[in-house]
Amino acid sequence: MLVNEKSYQTVWMEGSSVFMIEQNLLPFEFKIHECKTYWDTCIAIHDMIVRGAGAIGAAAGFAMAQAFLLSKDKMKAVTIREARQDIENTRPTAKNLFYAVDRVYRAGLISPENAMIEAQKVAVQDAADSKSIGEYGSELIGKKANILTHCNAGWLAFVDYGTALAPIYLAKRQGKDVFVYVDETRPRSQGSKLTAWELYNDGVPHVIIPDNAAAALMSQNKIDMVIVGADRIATNGDVANKIGTLEKAVVAKEFGVPFYVAAPTSTFDKDCATGKEIPIEERSQDEVLYQTGVDANGNTVKIRVASPGSTALNPAFDVTPAKYINGIITEKGIVKAHHKSIKALLGIYEKPYF
Ligand code: MRU
Repeated sequence: MLVNEKSYQTVWMEGSSVFMIEQNLLPFEFKIHECKTYWDTCIAIHDMIVRGAGAIGAAAGFAMAQAFLLSKDKMKAVTIREARQDIENTRPTAKNLFYAVDRVYRAGLISPENAMIEAQKVAVQDAADSKSIGEYGSELIGKKANILTHCNAGWLAFVDYGTALAPIYLAKRQGKDVFVYVDETRPRSQGSKLTAWELYNDGVPHVIIPDNAAAALMSQNKIDMVIVGADRIATNGDVANKIGTLEKAVVAKEFGVPFYVAAPTSTFDKDCATGKEIPIEERSQDEVLYQTGVDANGNTVKIRVASPGSTALNPAFDVTPAKYINGIITEKGIVKAHHKSIKALLGIYEKPYF
């Protein structure tokens, strides 16, 4: 994606360092963050310098490769297993993280060089899958469409292109008249900070709305469809995504607005039969009690926005049951949120019933 007319990916690896766009500073400052060791990359994932399912997947794969490189002279096999644990402990919900670590770990058992090659393959595949999701998803978008999205499932959340936003970018390039309603997505404001920044840079008409405005807009027929991303998808079609997604899906069903999820097959979890089994990250209450932004002089400020003395609860994701989802846009096509369609997509076949 272009930023100031220069082409960037969200995360990449050169030599033994991992580089990433520092997402905590956006949209006020554009900076590249370097992680010299696997441990630096773990911190970057945990602190959300890099975030979004595909991007943290690629970063985690690179972190695993960094650990293997270090193992050449300084680490023993047992420590490689510990490094894998460290990487897997950074964030619990996005399946892509575990998918990437597993692929690179297996490759690294052959040689550190092999781990590097595999980590690059994971990243290349992430971008290619997102591009393909854009192509399938754009077919769902009419000549004129008002689309609601939640959180950030744009190119910043993947290596490139994005998932929920990829069909929108392509539809605009195809000459369609698209307009995007962007949920601000408290508490970390990925919608108002990241999605809005991406859409603005790409010249896509949009407006930021408060998280609690979607029902009113749907009731006024102002939204034609909803497209969101996913962090993990169970084989029955239940989808874990950023907190607040569930209520958008319920409201969309009430008002007859089609609700789509866009995600690569690397986000599906063959071991989760239903959404109940998906681990949901709980983050620091400070993310709810404080907000970070810039003052009139451009200085970063963190201010308390909640009553002093009160505490907060901060679940980062929720699970939308399959019944609310009209379809899942993947790199292989659009599938129903139903166990039979998903098992066919993933190449899992149920035992014949006698
Ligand atoms: O907590 P984040 O910002 O890493 O959240 C993940 C997400 O980007 C969203 O849930 C998104 O909608 C899923 S698509 C990557």
